[in-house]
Amino acid sequence: MTPDQMRELHLTTRDNTRVWTAQEYRTVINDPSAILFSGENGFAVGRVVHDEAELLMIIVKHDQQLRGFGRGYLHGFEMECHKRGAKTCFLEVAANNNTAKSLYYSSGYQQTGTRKLYYHMNNNQRLDALIFKKNLV
Ligand SMILES: CC(C)(COP(=O)(O)OP(=O)(O)OC[C@H]1O[C@@H](n2cnc3c(N)ncnc32)[C@H](O)[C@@H]1OP(=O)(O)O)[C@@H](O)C(=O)NCCC(=O)NCCS
Repeated sequence: MTPDQMRELHLTTRDNTRVWTAQEYRTVINDPSAILFSGENGFAVGRVVHDEAELLMIIVKHDQQLRGFGRGYLHGFEMECHKRGAKTCFLEVAANNNTAKSLYYSSGYQQTGTRKLYYHMNNNQRLDALIFKKNLV
């Protein structure tokens, strides 16, 4: 999947997360630490450094959400990270993103911290980021 396709998919989500530019996606996926697990309806992208993985973005096309694709991409991403030596996976999620939080909790993640007012939303609001962690072994 190309950086332009990733941005296009991100644009379809119609949520209030900031849509990454193609250049931001390019920078992430061209790094040797990158892990990208993608399919026709979305992707999960992040990196593995030593034995820690970090999920940086997970996107499912708007009209395909809530059909299990997110769970599948997250699982595929975790498997790739595990193969690369990761023992834990971290991610950050906006405090009001109930679908994503639900997916992470039911996939075995637990909240380990909070970054107060970390996200700048499109409407100038600021929101906490919740830090989630899962053991991959
Ligand atoms: C978050 C996202 C990746 C989840 O992918 P998805 O394909 O929609 O999610 P899934 O269908 O795999 O469902 C995951 C879980 O959501 C929960 N869920 C289902 N319907 C829900 C609803 N109406 N409201 C809240 N949670 C719901 C369920 O726990 C579901 O698990 P289940 O299979 O046990 O029912 C997707 O909604 C998305 O792209 N959102 C916009 C971008 C985004 O916010 N990314 C996350 C950034 S951290």
